[in-house]
Amino acid sequence: MLDETARIRLRRATPDDAEVLTRWDRDPDVVACTTDDPEAEVAFGDHDWREEIGADSDVSFHVIAEEAGRPVGAMQIIDPHREPTHYWGDVEPGLRALDVWIGDPSDRGRGLGAEMMRAAHALCFATPDVTAIVIDPLESNTRAIRFYRRLGYVDEGPRIFDGVDRCRVMRLTRAAWAAGAARGG
Ligand SMILES: CC(C)(COP(=O)(O)OP(=O)(O)OC[C@H]1O[C@@H](n2cnc3c(N)ncnc32)[C@H](O)[C@@H]1OP(=O)(O)O)[C@@H](O)C(=O)NCCC(=O)NCCS
Repeated sequence: MLDETARIRLRRATPDDAEVLTRWDRDPDVVACTTDDPEAEVAFGDHDWREEIGADSDVSFHVIAEEAGRPVGAMQIIDPHREPTHYWGDVEPGLRALDVWIGDPSDRGRGLGAEMMRAAHALCFATPDVTAIVIDPLESNTRAIRFYRRLGYVDEGPRIFDGVDRCRVMRLTRAAWAAGAARGG
């Protein structure tokens, strides 16, 4: 059912979004959510958004969140068991993993991120065999960790990704999502 009160619309990213994504890569909070390196000036390291989006598939793809037709944020949604880089290592099937970022400071703290997450949860759990969604905020990103907890994610402990990134693994089960949705959350 279409939610008439929703401010946010999620759509698949296209190569034409590369320009705005490249601009957001230079925002200090977006940089800080991807690395603990204090010298870093750009998020996600060395990459080209046209190529990244060109490589999107049904097991790893990007979406853009729009508010009244204006791009405000982005997400990556992957099937961590099947996506080819095996970033999550040896994980069970039936999961989805999310990344989320809002590119401009003036668009943060207005509830848009929570709306983006709720829309992404509905999208992921629409596939019946998806049992849970996992995320991996940096341990240093305490505000994001608080944000995810409020959305029903539960801590699964620390984990180092890519040999350097000290992350916290968190999980939203289908049952927790369904209970939250029933409460209107
Ligand atoms: C995390 C993020 C998606 C939340 O979206 P949002 O629209 O700002 O969040 P909402 O308005 O729905 O909820 C507010 C909560 O978001 C979190 N938040 C707000 N600004 C944030 C920021 N700059 N960085 C991290 N978390 C932030 C906080 O938990 C905040 O609650 P608080 O005011 O009690 O601290 C967004 O702030 C963001 O993109 N931050 C920078 C990138 C990032 O940290 N991404 C997460 C990677 S794991």
